[in-house]
Amino acid sequence: ATQLDQNGTSPEKLLAPVLSAFWDEPESWTLATYERHEGYQGLRKALAMAPDDLIAYVKDAGLRGRGGAGFPTGMKWQFIPQGDGKPHYLVVNADESEPGTCKDIPLLFANPHALIEGIVIACYAIRSQQAFIYLRGEVVPVLRRLHEAVREAYAAGYLGKNILGSGLDLDVVVHAGAGAYICGEETALLDSLEGRRGQPRLRPPFPAVAGLYACPTVVNNVESIASVPAILQRGKDWFKSMGSEKSPGFTLYSLSGHVTSPGQYEAPLGITLRQLLDMSGGIRAGHRLKFWTPGGSSTPMFTEEHLDVPLDYEGVGAAGSMLGTKALQCFDETTCVVRAVTRWTEFYAHESCGKCTPCREGTYWLVQLLRDIEAGKGRMSDIDKLNDIADTINGKSFCALGDGAASPIFSSLKYFRAEYEEHITGEGCPFDPAKSTVWA
Ligand code: NAI
Ligand code: SF4
Repeated sequence: ATQLDQNGTSPEKLLAPVLSAFWDEPESWTLATYERHEGYQGLRKALAMAPDDLIAYVKDAGLRGRGGAGFPTGMKWQFIPQGDGKPHYLVVNADESEPGTCKDIPLLFANPHALIEGIVIACYAIRSQQAFIYLRGEVVPVLRRLHEAVREAYAAGYLGKNILGSGLDLDVVVHAGAGAYICGEETALLDSLEGRRGQPRLRPPFPAVAGLYACPTVVNNVESIASVPAILQRGKDWFKSMGSEKSPGFTLYSLSGHVTSPGQYEAPLGITLRQLLDMSGGIRAGHRLKFWTPGGSSTPMFTEEHLDVPLDYEGVGAAGSMLGTKALQCFDETTCVVRAVTRWTEFYAHESCGKCTPCREGTYWLVQLLRDIEAGKGRMSDIDKLNDIADTINGKSFCALGDGAASPIFSSLKYFRAEYEEHITGEGCPFDPAKSTVWA
């Protein structure tokens, strides 16, 4: 406990179970359990407010989007034009697929009603009568659980006509995607939901102006929406008492890789990886941290020197990365950086939707060069070529997938260029894959 107390913050204060407060209770996912834990009380408070006041309240609370970009949630709701005569939609992005990210899926599995309650509140605020949950199709048990939770909510009067006597009518459709990473990009998701092949649309117009069926649409991440009921129930000051000034509140971190206890940890924004590792048992015994990602592989990687960087949008941003999805993938000294970056780049090449040339061709060529270097067939000039190709992708691609593919190339060359050179001057990879559990 004293080791944890680096900033005068006790471990009890660091752990902030809100969304995960009763995940380990039997049948945590049922309406009965949720109601026992103040479930749907936030909704009652929200329905007593005028929709515009509700939006202002969520905006004042400072909740930032938990899907990766950290865009202020209340501001996104405020963008929805009112009195335009068009239907408005809420689409929940549950297509969680960023490598290392595993927070929304466990949340939906263990506590789906937090999302449903958040959906009703959000739809009341933006005057929407139709919401969609776009879920990764592979997670069939979660799909079943969501269907059951929606059914329970209809039966209890939390969905359907005249919800809790408020006059609000709302239907929720759970839609299973077919497992493409690009369908997590909000406009590709909307295309997919409309029945087309999921490829990103040009922005602007942003979905808030022309989204689903060209109507004003809020696209929010699961965790963002599921966080709203507690803000209403416990108050915005309570929410703002956690985290940092510009990144307030609690959040779910996904800790994985060479750690003693991987899993989901709920804590305020702004804690550090060192604190999280201290809380969770640290790096696996006998090993030390070599590199890590703050928000999945699309965020530039960090090293041991970044252990005390606050995990919020300001701290991580100032240190040269993005907070992203808060997927903390940790790799120890047994891991080959070139192998790790090759594996990630293979993922991006496979998931590139092919719409734009820099990403479609660039990710393919990155993979060829990386595989050669890893196999001891690389040349010194390949290192500059990697950098050039990543530079051609970065900022010149149609959507964020291209930038995400370039980021591990840049950061690995920044911190581990010598390791690339060692692969080329020696006889290929100097690491023993048998000693690293990551590639097993
Ligand atoms: P973005 O910063 O372009 O947009 C964020 C949100 O704000 C969007 O909903 C967008 O519509 C809205 N927005 C931004 N400017 C706006 C404006 N002027 N008017 C109205 N709305 C506006 O980020 P993007 O490209 O949507 O997402 C990138 C993020 O996605 C990355 O940070 C990455 O970490 C994350 N990501 C998450 C994954 C996951 O599995 N959760 C997978 C891949 C990426
Ligand atoms: Fe498709 Fe990649 Fe271009 Fe995005 S950057 S539109 S994923 S080809």
